[in-house]
Amino acid sequence: MSVPVRRSAKPKPKPSYESLGFGKFFSDHMLIAYYSESKGWHGVEIKPYEPFSLDPAASVLHYGQALFEGMKAFRQESGKCVVFRPEFNWQRMVEGAKRLCMPMPSETQFVSWIKEVVRVDQDWVPNKKGASLYIRPTLIGTEGFLGVRPANEYIFFVILSPVGSYYSEGLAPLKIWIEEDFLRAAPGGLGATKAAANYANSLRAAFEAKQKGYSQVLWLDVERKYVEEVGTMNVFFVFDDEIATPKLDGTILAGGVRDSVITLLKSMNKKIVERKVTIQEIKDAALNGTLKEVFGTGTAAVISPVGELGSKNWKTTVQDGKTGPVAKALYDTLTGIQYGQLPDKFGWVQSV
Ligand code: COI
Repeated sequence: MSVPVRRSAKPKPKPSYESLGFGKFFSDHMLIAYYSESKGWHGVEIKPYEPFSLDPAASVLHYGQALFEGMKAFRQESGKCVVFRPEFNWQRMVEGAKRLCMPMPSETQFVSWIKEVVRVDQDWVPNKKGASLYIRPTLIGTEGFLGVRPANEYIFFVILSPVGSYYSEGLAPLKIWIEEDFLRAAPGGLGATKAAANYANSLRAAFEAKQKGYSQVLWLDVERKYVEEVGTMNVFFVFDDEIATPKLDGTILAGGVRDSVITLLKSMNKKIVERKVTIQEIKDAALNGTLKEVFGTGTAAVISPVGELGSKNWKTTVQDGKTGPVAKALYDTLTGIQYGQLPDKFGWVQSV
C-alpha cells in the first residue's frame, strides 16, 4: 500500500554540487510514522520537511531513546535512482531497537517507506558521481513521562540530505588521532548499535582531536589495547601479508560498507581477516614498514584513506600520506557499483 503524500507548497532551490558538504541541506519532504501500543505503526505519511512538536517530557529528551541509520540513494548514469542494501540497515536497526526497548517497523514497511520518500524527492538525488542523497531513518521515544522505562509511543521518521564528501578533506587522506583516554564502548554496552548516545559520547574526544589538527579519533577497547573503529567509520589495515579489520565483538558498529568491502576484497582474491588488532602491532608494523595502508569505511565516509596516525607520544605517516592502491581499487569498485558503471554482482542496489 502506498504512503499518502502531502506535497510541499514551497519547493526549495537545490544547492549547487560545490556547496553540498555533508548534512547541510534537506530535501522538500520527509516521511513520518507513529507507534502506540494500542495502534501499532499508524499514520504514516510523506509530508513537507518541517519541525515537529514533542512533549517536553518525551523519553528521547531525557533518557536518550534515539536510534538512527545512515543510507544513500545514488543517481546512476541512466538517470535511474537506486538505494544501497536497505535490508542491511533495517536488520541493524532492529538489533539496536531491541537493545533500546523500542518497536521497529517491519522490513517491508522500512524498505518500502524509504523507497517511497526517495521517489517523491528523486529530483534531490544529485546527478554527479561523488554526490548522493543521504537517507537518515530515525526512531525516537515520544511518550511524555519521567519514570525510567521504555516509552509507549514512538515516531519513526526519514529525512533526506543531498551530500558530497563527509570530510572537508574530500577524498584526501585523513589524519586520525589514537584515543587513549576517552572510551567509545564497553562490553555489554551500546557500541554495536547506532544509538544517538554513542555519538553524544564521541563529541568531546573528536573536539579535542580537532584541536590537535586531527579529523577524527581511532577508538580503542576498554583495555586500550585493541583497535575498535574510527569516529564515523570502520577501519581496515593493509599489512604486507594480509588485510585486517577488527572483528565484530559487540562493541563495534557492524557497518554496511564494512561488510561490502569484505565481500569485495574476497572477490579480488585478497586475504582479508576479521580479527582482534592490537594498537601495538600497528605501531610495530609502521616501524618495520609492513603497514602499507589504513582506510575507513562508512556510508557517509565511503572509503576514506588515512594518511597519518598520531597519539600522545607517537605518530606515523601511512603510504606517504597518499591514497594507497587497495583503498583506491575499493573506492572505484564500490562507487562503480553504486553509480551503475560496474555490474552489481552482489545484488546490492535496488531501484526506488
Ligand atoms: C553514516 O555513515 O551513515 C553515519 O551515520 C556516520 C555519521 C555521519 C554519524
